[in-house]
Amino acid sequence: MSKSIVLTGITTTGTPHLGNYAGAIRPAIAASKNDDVRPFYFLADYHALIKCHEPERVKQSSLEIAATWLALGLDTSNAVFYRQSDVPEILELTWMLTCVTAKGLMNRAHAYKAAVAENEEAGGKDPDKGITMGLFSYPILMAADILMFNANKVPVGKDQIQHIEMARDIASRFNHIYGEHFTLPEAVVEENAATLLGLDGRKMSKSYNNTIPLFENEKKFRKLINKIKTNSLEPGEPKDPEGCTLFGIYQAFARDSEVAEMRHRYAEGIGWGEMKKILFEKINEEIAPARERYQALLDAPEHIEEQLQEGAQKARAIATPFIQELREAVGISKITA
Ligand code: TRP
Repeated sequence: MSKSIVLTGITTTGTPHLGNYAGAIRPAIAASKNDDVRPFYFLADYHALIKCHEPERVKQSSLEIAATWLALGLDTSNAVFYRQSDVPEILELTWMLTCVTAKGLMNRAHAYKAAVAENEEAGGKDPDKGITMGLFSYPILMAADILMFNANKVPVGKDQIQHIEMARDIASRFNHIYGEHFTLPEAVVEENAATLLGLDGRKMSKSYNNTIPLFENEKKFRKLINKIKTNSLEPGEPKDPEGCTLFGIYQAFARDSEVAEMRHRYAEGIGWGEMKKILFEKINEEIAPARERYQALLDAPEHIEEQLQEGAQKARAIATPFIQELREAVGISKITA
């Protein structure tokens, strides 16, 4: 029985935070230890160029993301862990797919439409102002990421479902013209994946600047937990766990029995200071060992690079012969054998 191929990319523009960890990284690392699946996890550095024109940031983010996944125990004997830019076949495939993708399909992409809508609201003359071809055609790059390895399942957030549907459309179009080369991927949306709120009570997100970096040193980490916004109820006053930022984060780290007990303490009126202390201890207990490994990896980045090179080799062992097959399929080949 062949393993199901699960593939996902992480755009290299930021520092991994608690929300990324609970919502995506932790489940992906657990999946890397499952023998029934073959995970492909990659640093989507070409995607980073779409929204970030700061070279240092893209580079630093690649380092931090790779170190984070390795420190957390990604099983690289099962998972293929690589940097997108180390697999140039992906870009070649992007062009082949670009040539069968209807422009109208890209016109309908949410990210592009949102950018146009923003321009229209601003009332300027050009609805495409500031929109690059990278942003416009990025669903095609994403389709190439997925189709290059014939992924069966793609774990993504809700905002990315449309892109997986587009990848299916593009794959079908290619298959229809050139024969059956691609597997049609399916989006997997983890309905019960944790979504954490951030320092200000809105969803924890880089774009709100309200995140708690996952591997912040212990002292700063404690400080940030203490900065999480709460209401002004005093100790002794009953509190509502629903919608409470602290409780939500606690839930993502504690056992069910501990969560039930905490509900109880909320009803009894636990003080915010006390709750923050417990929350800090709970998270720290889970991530402290990985934080040490993370620091060790940052001190020896050559180990990170080595892992990425190994991953790239495994990825190219698939991509190189496959792109050759696709070249032949579209009529690009040597005149004589
Ligand atoms: N665009 C995705 C995001 O912003 C990241 C990504 C790039 C990706 N290529 C992918 C996810 C391929 C899944 C499959 O989250």
